[in-house]
Amino acid sequence: MRCIAVEAATGSGARLSASQCIDVETLSQRIRYNLMIGAIVPRPIAVVGTISPTGFHNLAPFSFFNGVGSEPMLLSFCPANRVDGLPKDTLRNALPPEEGGTGCFTVNIAGHRILPQVVASADELDFGMSEFAAVGLTPITGTRVIAPRVREAPIAFECVTHAVHRFAEGKPGGANIVIGRVVAVHYPEGLADSRMHIDPARLDAVGRMGADIYCTTRDRFALDRPSVTREPS
Ligand SMILES: Cc1cc2nc3c(=O)[nH]c(=O)nc-3n(C[C@H](O)[C@H](O)[C@H](O)COP(=O)(O)O)c2cc1C
Repeated sequence: MRCIAVEAATGSGARLSASQCIDVETLSQRIRYNLMIGAIVPRPIAVVGTISPTGFHNLAPFSFFNGVGSEPMLLSFCPANRVDGLPKDTLRNALPPEEGGTGCFTVNIAGHRILPQVVASADELDFGMSEFAAVGLTPITGTRVIAPRVREAPIAFECVTHAVHRFAEGKPGGANIVIGRVVAVHYPEGLADSRMHIDPARLDAVGRMGADIYCTTRDRFALDRPSVTREPS
């Protein structure tokens, strides 16, 4: 794995001077993408496991990913269209059955220990070839869905596809959002307490910064939430 020391280069507390305002309509899709991945950081990484209707496993990382809400328990990730405008394999597989998919997927959190394999799983293999085998991660069929999860991941969510929104069908880089309803969660003993507070040190999740830069979650601090409500006079 390539590792770049960026701490010194970026410096802390660099001052921003004159403000710029860009009309995003004047930017190409690629430049908008660069802007987004550099500014919206750090992003958690979902390692998404799917299965095709013909039974082939697929695995790929997605950092346009987040939780949506807990009632119902929803999460989302965004597989953009490929450069030829076609949907990525993950999206094809996660579509509801009436749209040609299997209607499910798993989200496996990228732990520091498996980051090289996670990044390698982004390689585009031919449809039907499994990234699990190619990168050396172990697929385990879900208990509630048929999509595979990653045994080596620190926590995994089994999801039923709840909704898919396609915003620019056929366009290269076109945006899509997949919303999944979590139906089962897998994690090792000791990762969470009885109220499901997760131990961040054990999770040891990584985030994606811009391009090929990643960060750990090892530098943490606590901050009290001050009350801004005034005492009644
Ligand atoms: C860390 C990381 C995060 C990524 N995040 C995204 C993302 O949010 N959306 C996206 O479309 N591609 C993302 N990619 C690229 C996909 O993983 C890549 O296109 C992959 O080949 C898609 O696999 P599939 O065709 O099997 O679905 C990311 C790649 C890496 C290494």
